[in-house]
Amino acid sequence: MAVNEHRRFDGKVLLTGAAGHLGANLVRRLLDEGRDVRVLLRPGDNNTGVDGLELERIYGDLREPASLEKAVEGCETIFHVAATISTVNAGARAARGIFENNVLGTRNLLSAAKDADVARVVVTGSFSAVGYDLDDPSKPGHERRPFYPFDKSLPYAHTKVLVEHECLKAFADGLDVIIATSCALIGPHDYNPSRMGQTIIDHTHGRLRAYVPGGFDWVRAQDIVDGHMLAMHRGRGGQKYIFSTEYKEIDEIMALLHEVTGRPPTRMRIPGSVMAVTSEVASFVLTNFFPNVHQLLTPGAIRILRMRRRADTQKAQTELGYRPTNVREAFYEAYEHFARRGLVPSRVQSREASASRREPSSARTGAA
Ligand SMILES: NC(=O)c1ccc[n+]([C@@H]2O[C@H](COP(=O)([O-])OP(=O)(O)OC[C@H]3O[C@@H](n4cnc5c(N)ncnc54)[C@H](OP(=O)(O)O)[C@@H]3O)[C@@H](O)[C@H]2O)c1
Repeated sequence: MAVNEHRRFDGKVLLTGAAGHLGANLVRRLLDEGRDVRVLLRPGDNNTGVDGLELERIYGDLREPASLEKAVEGCETIFHVAATISTVNAGARAARGIFENNVLGTRNLLSAAKDADVARVVVTGSFSAVGYDLDDPSKPGHERRPFYPFDKSLPYAHTKVLVEHECLKAFADGLDVIIATSCALIGPHDYNPSRMGQTIIDHTHGRLRAYVPGGFDWVRAQDIVDGHMLAMHRGRGGQKYIFSTEYKEIDEIMALLHEVTGRPPTRMRIPGSVMAVTSEVASFVLTNFFPNVHQLLTPGAIRILRMRRRADTQKAQTELGYRPTNVREAFYEAYEHFARRGLVPSRVQSREASASRREPSSARTGAA
């Protein structure tokens, strides 16, 4: 089967979430391609991700429809990337905040897009909203598998399922919408920083003392940006496409962290069953008594890692020509970006030197 035909869009493009991790990578690709870009930013938040970029800034909020009317006006296309990500189950108030940003925010934006005759919208989805085999969650998840709502999924995952429903409702109503589903993101321009970004920084500074085994499907920033561009230009309206780069065990991620940061490996490996119980207690205490303390290894995150979920990207490869690369590069890119910002030391040794150091000597010398 040949990849879908390329549809050209040259007009103004609106990007939401441009200062976030994915958005900051996507906005740079759009600018590199010479596109006329407008971004929707929330005033007063950390918008470092778009500092110094030549683009049009509109200040507003997905929860405020009036600000969206202005944001979409005159746009041919939209990448709707913004969302609240959370691996915490922090009670009804927090869940409502996530719902309002993600579900109502998407609905507001799609409604404004329809009114403004926007030609196509690509909405970022999450692999957490993709269903899994209930008997073996590690079997590759694909677009056709339904989300199972009766287990301990996080409020965030539920909202991302409802975001997809909003997309399909808008599609049924005549708006051309496509869902570009992301796995766990790794890469540069991580200004907040993300959970994995913070892990890279912590490992570099010797603060990562232990880890929990498990695994997940990860996506390199460059690949998910490709995925969004392909969805925009080759996707079929009303469809969802999953983009991942590679599945990796946390043991492999730890080895990569050691390689990339040059710091000693983290050796303490706490069994998932032990950490699952400990984190339930810690999360209960933090949520109820110290709500402002950032929770790193939450019960939700541990549960996801223990499921060892893998992504099936066949549909994106066949229909869109998507070609995943490798996660190792993503770690180098993330590290180098943190180094440029002074958050970790610059690596004296180049990536190539580091790669050749790890190759067996026979491969380097060509000896049999
Ligand atoms: N990162 C991952 O591993 C991952 C995995 C799967 C799917 N995804 C999806 O990928 C997308 C981007 O994720 P990310 O990692 O780039 O997240 P991020 O770094 O947290 O960025 C999210 C952005 O959305 C903006 N935003 C949130 N609520 C908003 C609102 N009500 N109005 C306007 N802007 C709002 C945030 O602005 P403020 O700074 O003002 O809050 C921020 O710029 C999301 O849709 C997420 O669900 C991410």
